Amino acid sequence: MSRLLLAGATGLVGQATLRRALASARVRQVVAPTRKPLAPHPKLLNPVLDFEALPPDVEWWRVDAVACALGTTIRDAGSQDAFRRVDHDYPLAIARHAHAHGAQAFALVSAMGADAGSRIFYSRTKGEVENALGAIGFTSLTLLRPGLLGGERVQHRGGERWALRVLGALDPVLPKRYRIVPAERVAQALLDAAMDAVPGQHVIPSEHLLG
Ligand SMILES: NC(=O)c1ccc[n+]([C@@H]2O[C@H](COP(=O)([O-])OP(=O)(O)OC[C@H]3O[C@@H](n4cnc5c(N)ncnc54)[C@H](OP(=O)(O)O)[C@@H]3O)[C@@H](O)[C@H]2O)c1
Repeated sequence: MSRLLLAGATGLVGQATLRRALASARVRQVVAPTRKPLAPHPKLLNPVLDFEALPPDVEWWRVDAVACALGTTIRDAGSQDAFRRVDHDYPLAIARHAHAHGAQAFALVSAMGADAGSRIFYSRTKGEVENALGAIGFTSLTLLRPGLLGGERVQHRGGERWALRVLGALDPVLPKRYRIVPAERVAQALLDAAMDAVPGQHVIPSEHLLG
């Protein structure tokens, strides 16, 4: 049984991952650092903190695997720099701390189109974090690249709601890679990747995350 660190446990994918991890016989304990407290659970350790001040040397970095579902939007974050802190700097800081404390596996929810050479800031940031994670030295690294996520979001974002409607209507005729990806499927794939810890670097494209 493994000890899993889950980053982003309050988000759409993160909440689904947390539920599955707490119910999984493969997971001994979930360490889920968040900025708002989670509901208590006997298998959950929930450090509540500011991600700008991650403590470098605490016992809870000692995990077997990390699942990262952190993320924001440029609009919510307020600037490109603030977006990059959440989608690039925080995942990398978490990866480095956990790796330094013995973690062997890391799984990241990245995004379709992630590419460090992209002219699109969002895709470039996702590509850069993927590349930087690859250089850390995990035995197992899995990069999930979903397209638009579907699921019950408490706070829906304007543009995303429209995209979900349009893509939802077109779903039967769209090529698989452009279809809406259920957040629950991404959560299961994220947890499986972290727990299976298959050696090497793996990229999971959107079409492999569909139901
Ligand atoms: N939405 C899509 O259609 C889509 C498509 C492809 C890829 N993705 C990627 O998939 C990943 C997960 O997406 P999602 O929709 O599940 O995300 P989400 O619902 O917005 O959740 C994001 C998580 O990141 C945390 N977070 C955001 N800003 C933070 C900050 N400043 N400090 C600490 N934690 C912070 C949130 O915590 P709080 O609850 O405290 O805010 C939450 O736990 C993201 O990396 C996203 O880029 C999304």
